[in-house]
Amino acid sequence: MKRGLDKKRYNKIAAFYDSLESPMELLSYSRWRKQVFQRIPKKGAILEIGVGTGKNLSNYHRNHKIFAIDISENMLQRAKSRTEKQRALIHLAQMDVERLGFPDKVFDATISTYVFCSVENPVKGLKEIRRILKSEGIAIFLEHMRSENEFLGKGMDFLNPFVVNAFGPNINRYTVGNIEKAGFEVPEEEHLLSSIFRIIIAKPKLH
Ligand SMILES: C[S@@+](CC[C@H](N)C(=O)[O-])C[C@H]1O[C@@H](n2cnc3c(N)ncnc32)[C@H](O)[C@@H]1O
Repeated sequence: MKRGLDKKRYNKIAAFYDSLESPMELLSYSRWRKQVFQRIPKKGAILEIGVGTGKNLSNYHRNHKIFAIDISENMLQRAKSRTEKQRALIHLAQMDVERLGFPDKVFDATISTYVFCSVENPVKGLKEIRRILKSEGIAIFLEHMRSENEFLGKGMDFLNPFVVNAFGPNINRYTVGNIEKAGFEVPEEEHLLSSIFRIIIAKPKLH
């Protein structure tokens, strides 16, 4: 994919993003988001990656120190209007997960929801998450990826070039394998909807 294409795509759709996603949000996304947020530590420094329009922001607590980044300035603009109503103090920044502007081992947890289907070089981004997480930190993901059902998986392989071309995100990524490649272990994985969606709990692999 041409560098910067994701940013352009999300800048273009930012104004309609919430409406476009609303059917999925009603059907299952909101419920899964709640499940994910049961897993975050009760306090500490948390980095949300690909915050988008800020749909997760209401789930943070006052004793969280939140940094939330996104590559798209228009998505961040939407998130900004949501921060004003939140209990937690939230710092927003335009940043690419492949080049995080934070020192090593400063975050207690990271969270991303529906992001690593879009990131251009996912392993590079995941290695950055590994770098900025404390050794005892936790990385929490809610992502869609290639199904483990071979029939569905092959269908997703076939459709992926068309979907990427039309909409941008990939539908056949091996995101759990990518997380492991980036230096994490994956002690927990919850499969949702034929394993197309998964809640993944990852911890830095200690050498
Ligand atoms: C499908 S949206 C999900 C937004 C939000 N997490 C949610 O759950 O509604 C993907 C988001 O990831 C962002 N994104 C894509 N590539 C990125 C990158 N390399 N670094 C940071 N954010 C990125 C996009 O701009 C977009 O806001």
